[in-house]
Amino acid sequence: MRALVVSEHGPIENVALADVPAPHPGPGEVLIDVRAASVNFPDILVINGTYQKLPARPFVPGKDLSGVVAAVGEGVTLVKAGERVMAQTEHGAYAERCVVPEQNCFAMPARMSFEEGAAMGLVYLTAHFALVERAGCKAGETVLVTGAAGGVGLAAVQVAKALGAGVVAAVSSAEKAAVAKASGADHVVRTDVPDLREALRREVFDAVGRRGVDIVVDPVGGDVFDASLRAVAWCGRVVIVGFAAGRIPEVKAGLILVKNISVIGLQISDYRDREPAKVRRAQAELCAFYEQGKVQPRVMARFPLREHGAALAAVRDRKALGKVVLVMQD
Ligand SMILES: NC(=O)c1ccc[n+]([C@@H]2O[C@H](COP(=O)([O-])OP(=O)(O)OC[C@H]3O[C@@H](n4cnc5c(N)ncnc54)[C@H](OP(=O)(O)O)[C@@H]3O)[C@@H](O)[C@H]2O)c1
Repeated sequence: MRALVVSEHGPIENVALADVPAPHPGPGEVLIDVRAASVNFPDILVINGTYQKLPARPFVPGKDLSGVVAAVGEGVTLVKAGERVMAQTEHGAYAERCVVPEQNCFAMPARMSFEEGAAMGLVYLTAHFALVERAGCKAGETVLVTGAAGGVGLAAVQVAKALGAGVVAAVSSAEKAAVAKASGADHVVRTDVPDLREALRREVFDAVGRRGVDIVVDPVGGDVFDASLRAVAWCGRVVIVGFAAGRIPEVKAGLILVKNISVIGLQISDYRDREPAKVRRAQAELCAFYEQGKVQPRVMARFPLREHGAALAAVRDRKALGKVVLVMQD
């Protein structure tokens, strides 16, 4: 089968299209004929060797896919051959065939395209767990989403709106502001401004009042995280999702105490391993939101597998507006 292969960690230019043996499903595993796979920021980190979990080399990258179940291993009960599914894996999605544990496979709504299925996996579950499981988001609360036109960010905007929250989207350009607005953000604040520390808080207060936001969902880190912390309400919750900006910020314990805030981490892959039933319930709610038209993955661009360089570069270069998708058929 054709697959993208990383033999040595390094820049995305190290990724090569190659012919590799197709995998076979073991007990509890599902073999999927991959139709589409989406690019996530963590894929870039896995490829360059800086992600927290790294596979043995050589490996096929890619965490998010959709396709048709080709075969199931012994004991599989959750899906059957021929079913259209979206699925997640630690690596292996950028290939014509991929094996995943059955608990990571979810039936796709009938009207969902394969491209949408690949785009709606990891980032929507991450957004859902950040908002519901970690932050306890309730209707009527306000949520500041940073990096709000990126994969996790745009999903968090949509999921927060679907939960009945008000959303302030923080983005770095006018183009990204338009995308966040079109996905339902009530207010947009810009992060490409001088004196971000003061400007972000002022703009958030203008949008939601001087109390600040109840929840921050932050996939960006760095200066954006530091500034966001100042815009949180008394008893607010800040969910740390990632560090796309490159710097892992630090929080002073005194600030957490004085403001009565909670600073909370989220790592979705651990939930997949430790609490699969909870993940399935979240995915079911996300599919229901999709059916109700409350969430809609934004597929910004689709590339055939041989154009993987352009697909990966769009995410690496901070150009993704929603999701970039690889399709297996040319
Ligand atoms: N915790 C989890 O379970 C989990 C799951 C999935 C992803 N993540 C993490 O979440 C973060 C976002 O992932 P994603 O797939 O949504 O990425 P993405 O689509 O590339 O979005 C990242 C956003 O971060 C902002 N950003 C700021 N500085 C950046 C830089 N130097 N390079 C790239 N982006 C920058 C950009 O927004 P602006 O231009 O508007 O600032 C961009 O839209 C990553 O750190 C990823 O590792 C965590």
